[in-house]
Amino acid sequence: MLTNLENSKIAIIGLGYVGLPLAAAFAEKFRTVGYDIDPKRVDELQKGHDRTLEVEDAHLQSVLVKSSLDLDDKGKGLLITDAVLPISSANIYVVTVPTPTDKHNRPVLTPMLKASEAIGKILKKGDVVIYESTVYPGVTEEECIPVLEKVSGLKYNEDFFAGYSPERINPGDKEHTVTKILKVTSGSTPEVAEYVDQLYKAVITAGTHKASCIKVAEAAKVIENSQRDINIAFVNELSKIFNLLGIDTQEVLEAAGTKWNFLPFRPGLVGGHCIGVDPFYLAQKAQEVGYHPEIILAGRRLNDSMGKHVATETIKHMMRKDLKVIDSKVLILGFTFKEDCPDVRNTRVIDIYNELKSFDMDVCVYDPWANPAEVKHEYGIDVINGGEKPDLEDYSAVILAVAHKEFKSWPIQASSNCVVFDVKSVLKKELVDSRL
Ligand SMILES: NC(=O)c1ccc[n+]([C@@H]2O[C@H](COP(=O)([O-])OP(=O)(O)OC[C@H]3O[C@@H](n4cnc5c(N)ncnc54)[C@H](O)[C@@H]3O)[C@@H](O)[C@H]2O)c1
Repeated sequence: MLTNLENSKIAIIGLGYVGLPLAAAFAEKFRTVGYDIDPKRVDELQKGHDRTLEVEDAHLQSVLVKSSLDLDDKGKGLLITDAVLPISSANIYVVTVPTPTDKHNRPVLTPMLKASEAIGKILKKGDVVIYESTVYPGVTEEECIPVLEKVSGLKYNEDFFAGYSPERINPGDKEHTVTKILKVTSGSTPEVAEYVDQLYKAVITAGTHKASCIKVAEAAKVIENSQRDINIAFVNELSKIFNLLGIDTQEVLEAAGTKWNFLPFRPGLVGGHCIGVDPFYLAQKAQEVGYHPEIILAGRRLNDSMGKHVATETIKHMMRKDLKVIDSKVLILGFTFKEDCPDVRNTRVIDIYNELKSFDMDVCVYDPWANPAEVKHEYGIDVINGGEKPDLEDYSAVILAVAHKEFKSWPIQASSNCVVFDVKSVLKKELVDSRL
């Protein structure tokens, strides 16, 4: 038997970019426990600080409680923990763990399976496990449910139930926050689907869309990101073509954009945890059922080539200006995967860096948003994120890779001694040598 909506006790498994904002939203209405296996993350959240900057510290502190006893008193609030005991009294488990790919671009389901295993150990009759992580269609029912059944000894859709409700947040976007984005919901039976839908409706002010089944909801999310990847790949390809033709891509897009149904995509690097990764999930599933995806993988290849393209174009411009390449100093502005956000996961700025380094250039990266220790740990390179602003005159090339708001007021300008490549087209065309 499903619990009444009012008696829902929620456990969020994985408190990252997706899990924490969701936990904070649920905590306004329900008893919520946020669980994460990373003790460092748990410690900072317990102290009321979110380093991803997705939840403001004041908001986090307003919903935080110190112990399960406080939760019982208030009937709502957020307890953060890395212990299993406090989540064992929940009846709704929401899984928001990472779904990365390996170095061969194959989906890595380990966090999903480990989270399912942990839940399986404490699963009770009537509980509902809702997955939110981005996956290919089938992961919930074909990969995770068998783990839940095996570990718990309970039977799916008799003893416990499942749902899938993909997350659509956009890191760094302060307008489209979790409660303001319409949410797709689904459940393992019509009754569960309605329950899951009502649960989200209680906190998502933008409303919900109840999909017909879990696989439809899984597929909907993965195609949202794949569609975006493919559309960007198309304009990236145009950028390469127009570069060879000596035409400014931005001006072409501006002109074409005057037609009512021309889609306003812009060229650029496609990194991050979602758009550059999720299409590989869909491709993997397609291949598993005997279909070789043409467009999806072509889009991925094209977008993954852009960092190298930016670096080689910069070098061409340096040679045209008769500037020395080997040992020359190059400044990359921005390292995070997108502007005004500290997220460096799967940033493709690293491709620009690596290509420049392969020409033995002396590359300096400046990013006021990136955490240097995290960059060092993940990529093995040094990033400067504070202190004196770099003196642009010290460099033979400046690549504006990420459009952080700080850079917009910097006096970046090409000269006979310095090439400027504007990846995001934020500077005036006359001030730069090249842009995508
Ligand atoms: N970041 C985004 O913008 C975004 C948007 C929509 C969907 N998604 C999807 O949501 C999912 C989560 O992404 P994210 O950006 O929040 O990831 P994240 O890396 O920021 O956070 C995941 C958290 O889960 C924790 N974790 C890992 N394994 C765990 C386990 N077994 N048990 C408990 N905690 C565990 C990690 O310590 C981490 O804190 C992914 O599938 C992603 O594709 C992300």
